[in-house]
Amino acid sequence: MHQLALGHRVIAPLLATVSLFTGAIAAPLIVPRQSITVLSTSQITTYTPYTWFSSTGYCSPATTLAWDCGANCNANPGFHTVASGGDGDNIQYWFVGYSTTLGEIIVSHQGTNPNDLIPILTDASIAQVNLDSAHFPGISSSIKVHDGFATAQLKAADAVLTAVQTALSTSGYKKITLVGHSLGAAISLLDSVYLPLHLASGITYKTIVYGLPRVGNQAFANYVDANTNIHLTHINNKEDPVPVLPPEFLAYVHPSGEIHIEDSNAWDACPGQDNDSDLCSTGDVPTVFEWNISDHDGPYNGITMGC
Ligand SMILES: *[C@@H]1O[C@H](CO)[C@@H](O)[C@H](O)[C@H]1NC(C)=O
Ligand SMILES: *[C@@H]1O[C@H](CO)[C@@H](O)[C@H](O)[C@H]1NC(C)=O
Repeated sequence: MHQLALGHRVIAPLLATVSLFTGAIAAPLIVPRQSITVLSTSQITTYTPYTWFSSTGYCSPATTLAWDCGANCNANPGFHTVASGGDGDNIQYWFVGYSTTLGEIIVSHQGTNPNDLIPILTDASIAQVNLDSAHFPGISSSIKVHDGFATAQLKAADAVLTAVQTALSTSGYKKITLVGHSLGAAISLLDSVYLPLHLASGITYKTIVYGLPRVGNQAFANYVDANTNIHLTHINNKEDPVPVLPPEFLAYVHPSGEIHIEDSNAWDACPGQDNDSDLCSTGDVPTVFEWNISDHDGPYNGITMGC
């Protein structure tokens, strides 16, 4: 199992933090099913290429020394890697390339093992910080994000930007899709804020991520929702605990755009931020007793994250 690339923080044992949650049982608001949109099979299928691009997972470093797009990515025909980086340890692996099938540039960051991630997400001593002003010029100081995610994103930010600029000029495409799972989803969401600040106008962006933890505060969620350069879809599987962490009482808020996969395998589009309907993650997984870490890796319409 490789190290989580979140700097040198002391990782509090999971059990020590469970007590945080047992005191926070809230009765879920039950919203009638008909008020939540259920995706059709063909709508679900449109996500499949992005699921594969996100599924490179947390391969052990030994098998990923030559990591580029990863074996699962080969499920997507017509993909050309432009650059890749990271070391699977201090820096999450990432790749940038373009898909001639989709006519899009893809930016992907590697996920991590939920058993490594959850302690970071439940450690109340990890601060919320401002985005780095050199990389995020003009962003309001009211916007705060998880220190570990901010650090992880910055480690690859310059190299990813350079790779995206190369991909834009090489391909001639004007569409960028950011993908990722788990920790990779959090980094890609921060990249979704970062890249438009540095690239010319006329590019359209979308962000499709899986098992996204909460990344920042209310101002961050509002910024993501209001930014016309960000079109976020975050897909959460069943009782995966990662999407309900860090907890709301630590002032973390999800932006809109959740799709929640039900136990029935229906995909429900959940409106708003942290929808507390029991058909959506925030309502369905209100306490640690509902957690099922096995759900974090999927399957997402048949695709399991990892190598
Ligand atoms: C959750 O979804 C329901 C159904 O569409 C909607 O009426 C409600 O406003 C949403 N809740 C939040 C907090 O956005
Ligand atoms: C947890 O999820 C796994 C995989 O989806 C499933 O097989 C298992 O039954 C679940 N456990 C519980 C207690 O629901």
